[in-house]
Amino acid sequence: MIVKTDKDREGMRAASKVVKAALDAAAAFIRPGVTTLDIDAVVEEAIRKAGGTPSSKGFHGYPNASCISVNDVVVHGIPSLQTVKSGDIVSVDITVLLNGYQGDAARTFAVGDVAEADLRLIKAAEAAFYAGMEYVKAGNRVGDVSSAIQLYSEINGYGVVRALTGHGIGHNMHEPPEVPNFGKKHAGPVLQNGLCIAVEPMITRGDWRVQVARDGWTTRTVDGSNAAHYENTVIVGSDGPEILTL
Ligand code: MF3
Ligand code: CO
Ligand code: CO
Repeated sequence: MIVKTDKDREGMRAASKVVKAALDAAAAFIRPGVTTLDIDAVVEEAIRKAGGTPSSKGFHGYPNASCISVNDVVVHGIPSLQTVKSGDIVSVDITVLLNGYQGDAARTFAVGDVAEADLRLIKAAEAAFYAGMEYVKAGNRVGDVSSAIQLYSEINGYGVVRALTGHGIGHNMHEPPEVPNFGKKHAGPVLQNGLCIAVEPMITRGDWRVQVARDGWTTRTVDGSNAAHYENTVIVGSDGPEILTL
């Protein structure tokens, strides 16, 4: 969506606020011993309490309100009776529909005592997002953002997942353009003023290759390395980004 009216801008902000509230609820709840289904229940309650709807539920048959991806699961982990334990890193990805507008964001959380290298991985995913933000400005191109994310990640020794990308967002969860986390400077579609995008680096401590499990969703690194995910919904402005899901 290209935001043109105050109504659209406020709509995107409001949906994004609900996403943030649900992420905060998950962050406060996650501890060793809880199941990923328990986390999902907390997320769904927070979304509904705020008057929103979890967009992922029923999306191409996806069963839950959140995607919860532990350790080597990069994205689209299906909540289950698996308990999280000290040392795990847990990615929570939430999309909310509120009044016809979508917000989408993800964070990776450390549970208990986590290895230094995994804590660095989590921080690097966030920093890669902000490396991309340096180029989010009307008139720049998607490839400027993509290449900045890739460069930051690879310079720091991480694999950049290619099979999944960021995306436009608005009345639908996924809209054009695709916003890859890899690419070439000065390439791709021009970022228009008011364009809403979800920017979401997915990086690994090893190789970038991933495979989807037989459930059709759970996406793991092929080499078994741990992965982190950091996503926000953003509006492109003439002077820079407005990040909505902080
Ligand atoms: N939130 C995911 C994204 O960032 C999409 C999840 S779709 C689901 O694009 F069906 F897996 F939930
Ligand atoms: Co998401
Ligand atoms: Co997304």
